[in-house]
Amino acid sequence: MLQENKPLSILAQEARRGLQSTFQIEGQFLATAPGRVNLIGEHIDYCDGFVLPLAIERHLVIAANLNNSSKARFATENHDIVEIDLSVTQEITGPKWSNYLRGVIQGFLDLGYQIPGFDAFLCSSIPQGAGLSSSAALECALATLIEGLVDTQLATKDKALLSQQAEHRFAKVPCGIMDQYASCFGAKDQLILIDCQSGEPEMIPFFDPSLSIIVADTRVSHNLADGEYQSRKTQTEQALELLKKSSWREVTLPDLFELENQFGEILFKRAHHVVSEIKRTVDAVEALKRQDFSIMGEYMYQSHRSLRDDFQVSCQELDLMVALAREIGFEGGVLGSRMTGGGFGGSTVTLCRTDKANTIASRLQEAYQNETGITPLLFSTRPTQGAHLL
Ligand code: GLA
Repeated sequence: MLQENKPLSILAQEARRGLQSTFQIEGQFLATAPGRVNLIGEHIDYCDGFVLPLAIERHLVIAANLNNSSKARFATENHDIVEIDLSVTQEITGPKWSNYLRGVIQGFLDLGYQIPGFDAFLCSSIPQGAGLSSSAALECALATLIEGLVDTQLATKDKALLSQQAEHRFAKVPCGIMDQYASCFGAKDQLILIDCQSGEPEMIPFFDPSLSIIVADTRVSHNLADGEYQSRKTQTEQALELLKKSSWREVTLPDLFELENQFGEILFKRAHHVVSEIKRTVDAVEALKRQDFSIMGEYMYQSHRSLRDDFQVSCQELDLMVALAREIGFEGGVLGSRMTGGGFGGSTVTLCRTDKANTIASRLQEAYQNETGITPLLFSTRPTQGAHLL
């Protein structure tokens, strides 16, 4: 079964109501930012590669108003409240989620902005821990809110980079640029092809109503993610050093095979993923432009295999969900499927025929549930607008 996406207007209403009932004030400022799903190009944003995410119809909304103080108070649907002093240099402290906020606030303080005190209420429809960038959405929504509060507008790229810095410095996650770019640059009916070497995004139209994107949250999130992410990143750096190249964009598969015996097995596999995934992503975009969707789907399956076998960031549940989609196959309306995001749990992304999307989702849900005993969460999405004030 496909779960409905809550309309943004309803989420905004809930945030306004939350602000009213928690702080007894009207929402004067409303900012939103979406989560993201990546169609192809995984674990190569920190390797100068290409990635192809889209902003999804799952959002975080912040309703806020000024409070005539130098403090920001943030309340959530779970009744958490965090207070942050805006007049001092921010430091990492608890609760964990507040560090994303502190990081974004510090980003604006570093730019010389004085942020007036405000009260805020946060609502989200982005499943957490599902590899759909709920934290990037939090950063980008707050950055957008602060733009409103200080009456400025950063260049979209600068806002995305400020949000990424917040994650690096305050959440200590050495992430690439994909998530924050997707959340900021998202646009209706457009995929975002990001050249992670130049930092330039190119919009790729995705209008065809006969195609749908299904996100399947496996509802597992193995706790390895942070340490393993850092270790994959370090391994790619070591491999590039062995290749004596300054960027992965200069490395071809023949280069790699020529030096194969200088690599240990693990580094060779990592390098093989990076080089093949960069090429696959470029080829996949060409296929999309030619509207050759079955080839695009094939690249998605290949990408999954590479992430599973060479980069080793998948897990049983992700592999199962992809295998189930593949079983439904082209005849059943599935064009391609793969894990998406950092891995070790989280979600898969499946490209399929719209008229079959409901049947596909029911079959995936039932089979996955039978096999694992876990009820997955499935929804379909089209590319949507990035972070903005409402
Ligand atoms: C996480 C990171 C991204 C990217 C993906 C893997 O989502 O935040 O920058 O590296 O993993 O593609």
